Amino acid sequence: MVGSANLNIMIKAARKAGRSLVKDFREVENLQVSVKGAGDFVSKADIEAEQIIKSELMNARPTYGWLAEEGGEDEGQDPTRRWIVDPLDGTTNFLHGLPHWSVSIALEHKGQIVAGVVFDPAKDEMFFAEKGAGAWMNETRLRVSGRHRMIESIFATGLPFGGRADLPETLKDLARLLPACAGVRRWGSAALDLAYVGAGRYDGFWERRLNAWDLAAGMLIVREAGGLVEAINPAGNPLTDGEILCSNEPIHSAFAKVIRG
Ligand code: IPD
Ligand code: CA
Ligand code: CA
Repeated sequence: MVGSANLNIMIKAARKAGRSLVKDFREVENLQVSVKGAGDFVSKADIEAEQIIKSELMNARPTYGWLAEEGGEDEGQDPTRRWIVDPLDGTTNFLHGLPHWSVSIALEHKGQIVAGVVFDPAKDEMFFAEKGAGAWMNETRLRVSGRHRMIESIFATGLPFGGRADLPETLKDLARLLPACAGVRRWGSAALDLAYVGAGRYDGFWERRLNAWDLAAGMLIVREAGGLVEAINPAGNPLTDGEILCSNEPIHSAFAKVIRG
């Protein structure tokens, strides 16, 4: 696919940050002896990746706004456009030497996500989408899965960890969903969970207490691959509410019913 100039800028920035993260990821294993040492090292890797992305994107489009996990918010001279960035999604995996983490970059225009990139440098898988132009992984056009039956479907989610208060809700979700489906996965990068729904690898994904930078790029990939994306609250907005429920169309109402209880 021939993408827009903005999409090409985003892909270039994701690749550049990915190279820096891969170099640091190779070092992480040597640092495991000291947990604090590895933790500090990973936050430096994270911040460095964000700086790389910021300088690529802001040099190319200096008037756009900015929202990123490590570096906060900046309205920019053009308040209608903003970059939404998570430089490293899947930090816990990265810290533990697990090769499943991503760089997520989205472009929002007048409140709508118009382009999104989720890059998995460890597997060299570049997922991307533009509004109205479909979703892709490297050279391959993406399409959500075609499964019609919940019992044959697998779902991804995020399980709450230390400090997160949504454990009871998640346990209730699992109690209802597990008997009705073929399995639930927790792989540790929400942006890749979404990209995998777009690629038809997962049939659906849901999670609460996320942030706009976890969701923005992946949401567009799911939609452009033919999937349905909603907040868990049917009247809500996933980006501002930080919660999401998405799947292919045939199972959507059954899946939503289970998660909404
Ligand atoms: C996290 C990952 C994880 C999700 C967490 C997020 P981070 O992002 O997306 O899958 O369950 O809620 O915070 O901290 O690795 O950027
Ligand atoms: Ca994240
Ligand atoms: Ca992050």
